[in-house]
Parts: sequence; structure tokens; C-alpha cells
Amino acid sequence: MKKTKLLELRQLINNDEDKAWKKIISLRREFERNFRQIFASLELLRDVRQAIEKANEVISASLEVMCDPVKIDEMEPGHAIGHLSRDYLHALILANHQQSLDPRIVYLGMVAGTLHDTLGSALVKRYAENQRVIRHAEASALMFLEISKIIGLDCREAMMIAYSIAAHTHYLKRHKVVCTDGVIRTTRPYPDTLQNGLPIYPVIFTRWCDRLDLIGPCYFGRHYLTLTNDHKDYNLNDFCQIKYHSHMRPLNRTSRQIKLDPNGPTFCEHLQSIIETQIFQSPYGRYDYGFVMWLREQLKASEKRILKGFERPTALSLREETKLLNNWNGWLATKVEPSTLGVKASEILHEKFLGLPQETKTVWYSAMSSTLEEYQIWSKQMRKFLDQVSFCRQLPLLGEATNVL
Ligand SMILES: [Fe+2]
Ligand SMILES: [Fe+2]
Repeated sequence: MKKTKLLELRQLINNDEDKAWKKIISLRREFERNFRQIFASLELLRDVRQAIEKANEVISASLEVMCDPVKIDEMEPGHAIGHLSRDYLHALILANHQQSLDPRIVYLGMVAGTLHDTLGSALVKRYAENQRVIRHAEASALMFLEISKIIGLDCREAMMIAYSIAAHTHYLKRHKVVCTDGVIRTTRPYPDTLQNGLPIYPVIFTRWCDRLDLIGPCYFGRHYLTLTNDHKDYNLNDFCQIKYHSHMRPLNRTSRQIKLDPNGPTFCEHLQSIIETQIFQSPYGRYDYGFVMWLREQLKASEKRILKGFERPTALSLREETKLLNNWNGWLATKVEPSTLGVKASEILHEKFLGLPQETKTVWYSAMSSTLEEYQIWSKQMRKFLDQVSFCRQLPLLGEATNVL
């Protein structure tokens, strides 16, 4: 993609929300009205192997186009290379293990599941979501539509992938937003079922890829990396204030107590609230089955073991403390977010961490140790699953995806 094209798109997304919003509305109208007919008209794929091959081609071609104009360092820590790599690896193992899906769903879901954040994260600030209707998901969708023209993708496939990308954030309620141009617009949740109640699996597959990086040890690191600056994040169905010092308090309170606290939820509470929603009774976990449900439960159990660490303060000698923090920062910068962005964020957070009260730090030492141990278990398990998928994991922009393992 020519740099000018990206600049034009960035201009449209950032400065002409009205035009960008109209494009999203028309994408939604077309998809939500005609999904079944359009999906039925797509070229059949022989099997999952062919689906993975096709997805790999489209992902590689899209990232190739992005290589020149996109700066990794413009993405936000936690939503850049590390997340992209894990999303891709999750897409691969889901494709291989999530039985009974039409290979066309696997293909569409793999592409959308891998690219859902990366394309838009370089264009829209991840934590400006409460002031915009063209958020990182919509920006990614618009970017993909543009890229699809350059790589010559079938426009029906492009539309399905773009919609699945836009729908990945899975907000559950409408948001009335005063946009930067002063106009009030209202967002509407993206449905994951058709009017007759049938699940829209390309959307669900995309969300699976994303959600598998929303629980477990890597999410612990990902979320930590987002704390370099104060911002608003989505928690318990609303946007709330996140500030490093108050977020790091070792508290785990009821949702009622959290809502009464102007300082917002703590790290522990944020993670706990995510774990609690990964169930069949919640809209987030309703369509999980088979392998993805099993993996989800493994990750939940892993994160619960980490959170238990907050109940066991650990007093460390100065030497032990230095060693643990070195390991922690190294892990953040080489595995969770393996880029200069990750190095920078981990350095900023290291300074902030040293300024915390001693009693808070002792609790965190225990959680950090547990996270590093749980990460080793996760990494080993991922390698085992990936051994069964004989595809190249080398992609433009990020290199070898298994570097995060
Ligand atoms: Fe996202
Ligand atoms: Fe994501």
C-alpha cells in the first residue's frame, strides 16, 4: 500500500468520522441482511488444510502490504506484535482442533482473528474508545477493506472478514458517544447470531482468537503493559478510569464496592471480572464448545492460580527482588510484547513499580512469580499443539510468530 493511501485512510478515520461511520453502517447493513446468501455463494474449500493455506496467503499478503506504511511503535503496548503473534497461533490451533466447522468459516475466522487489532491499532488510539464510534475495531475493518482491493481478494470474502474484524470487541450495549466533531452518535452491539438464532461463526471464531489472549498468563502481562499511561478501559460493562497506583492496589472486592470507588477497579478485580464472564451463561462464552472451551478452562484455571498469588505476600531479599524484576521485565519485553515498544513500556513500568508501597510490592512479587511459572506451562502446551499443525509460522511484519513462546 502506498504511504499516501494509508495517510488518506488515517485522515478519514481520525478527522472524518462521519464518512468512516457511514462506511461501517453500510458494511453492517450488507452483512447483517445478507450473511446467509453471501456465505452460501462463497467458493467451497476442500478441507481445513486448504482453509489454513488460504488464510495464510491472505494474512501474509495483508501484512506485506502493511509493512511499509505501518510503524509497529505506533501501536499500543498490549495490542501490537505480541497480541498479533498469539492471535495467529491461536487461530492456527483452533483451525486444527475445532472440529465440525465449515472450512470456509475457518478461513474467514483465521484471517479476521489474526488481523482484528493490528490494522487499526496503528490508526486509532486504543484508549480513545469512549470518545469515538470509529474505534480500533472499525478502523481495522476499514483498513482491511482497503487492503483487500490491493491484494485482489474476492469482495464477498473481504466483506465477511471486515465485518468479523469490526465485531470482535463484542460490546454488549449501545453507547451514546459525543464524537470529536461534536456530533452525538450511538453505537449498537454487533450481533453474533442471525435473526433465527443461528450463530454467525466467522464472528465467533474471530472472537475466540481474541478471547484466548484475554485470559491466562499472557493476558496478565498484556494488561500490565497497558498501564504506562492513565486511561479509560472497559470493565464491568462500562468505561472506567485506570491509573497505575490505584490499579495496582492488591484488592479483590465485590462489583458493588468497585462501582462505588472513583479510582476504579484494581488489576486483580479487572482480571477476575473477565474470568467470571468466560462461561456459557455469559454472552461471551455462550458459543464455546469442544477444544476452545477446553482451552478456555485451562487458561481460566491458570489465571486463578496466578490470582491466588495475591493472597500470599512474599518477602524477598534485595537480590531476589532484583532477579525477579529482571525476569519479569525481560519477559514483558521479549515474550509479551517483543518489540522496542515492549522494552520501552517495561522500563517505564519498572520505575512506576519501584514507587509502590512495600506491602503492595510483596503481594505483587508472588503474583509475578506465579505468572512466569504459568507462562512456561502455557508456552509448552502451545508448542505441543502447534507441532500438530505443519504450516509455516513466519509472517511479514512480525517474523516468526512462535517467538512469543
Ligand atoms: Fe481489539
Ligand atoms: Fe484483540
